[in-house]
Amino acid sequence: MTRRLDTLDLAGALVRLRPHVPADAEPAFTLLAGEQEILRWLVWDGPASAAELADHYRTWRYDDGAVSDLRLAIEERASGALVGSLTMRFGGHPGQGDIGYWIGRAFQGRGFGREALALGAHLAFRHLGAQSLYAWVFVGNLASRRVLEHTAFTLSRTVPGRILKHKKAVDEWHYVLLANEWRRLRVDFRPAHEDLRWRDDLDALDEPARPFPSG
Ligand SMILES: CC(C)(COP(=O)(O)OP(=O)(O)OC[C@H]1O[C@@H](n2cnc3c(N)ncnc32)[C@H](O)[C@@H]1OP(=O)(O)O)[C@@H](O)C(=O)NCCC(=O)NCCS
Repeated sequence: MTRRLDTLDLAGALVRLRPHVPADAEPAFTLLAGEQEILRWLVWDGPASAAELADHYRTWRYDDGAVSDLRLAIEERASGALVGSLTMRFGGHPGQGDIGYWIGRAFQGRGFGREALALGAHLAFRHLGAQSLYAWVFVGNLASRRVLEHTAFTLSRTVPGRILKHKKAVDEWHYVLLANEWRRLRVDFRPAHEDLRWRDDLDALDEPARPFPSG
């Protein structure tokens, strides 16, 4: 029997994290389509259509036994508008989660990224039993670096040419946050609201779906 997350609602003062739903596809597509200032920092080149996104968001909690993803919408609390997305992927080393995120351009610079990341760290360390979180960041992505450092991530190393984007090698920063560092350095952080529902399940696996491209 497996205990698994059925749904979640985690909110700070500015944003809420909740499961993605197919209805997020249209607003997310509008925020992402052709937005090179977002897409140039992601391994993923963005969705070809809203339908492609709807297909990904249909499974908010992907698990194929080797990799497990949580695909979470970032919503502005004041308006309920979708402002971005955060994916947390576990696989490889147990307890280590890879975090990826984006915020639509119209919503950037208002503290949404910082709070979404803190809510993600709270979720991982307080509720999912994670031991560490990490993020791979294209060298030069100063906004991402800033929000990670606000969240208490530290730069672990720089890896030259770690990935290829449009056939060009890209150097990446590897940022890491350990559970005990989070607890020590962000002891003040508390969500304004949190509601997580768990379910005991005989079937450990979700319906198979394609893994989502992470940040
Ligand atoms: C990274 C990202 C999620 C930040 O979201 P956001 O909502 O704008 O973040 P916040 O408003 O919480 O904070 C942004 C911080 O970056 C800083 N910043 C923004 N652009 C910057 C730049 N060009 N140089 C230096 N700092 C910059 C802001 O000043 C702010 O820091 P401060 O609070 O200390 O002043 C958003 O810029 C984004 O989606 N970028 C494209 C996709 C991406 O990079 N994803 C992450 C891949 S690893």
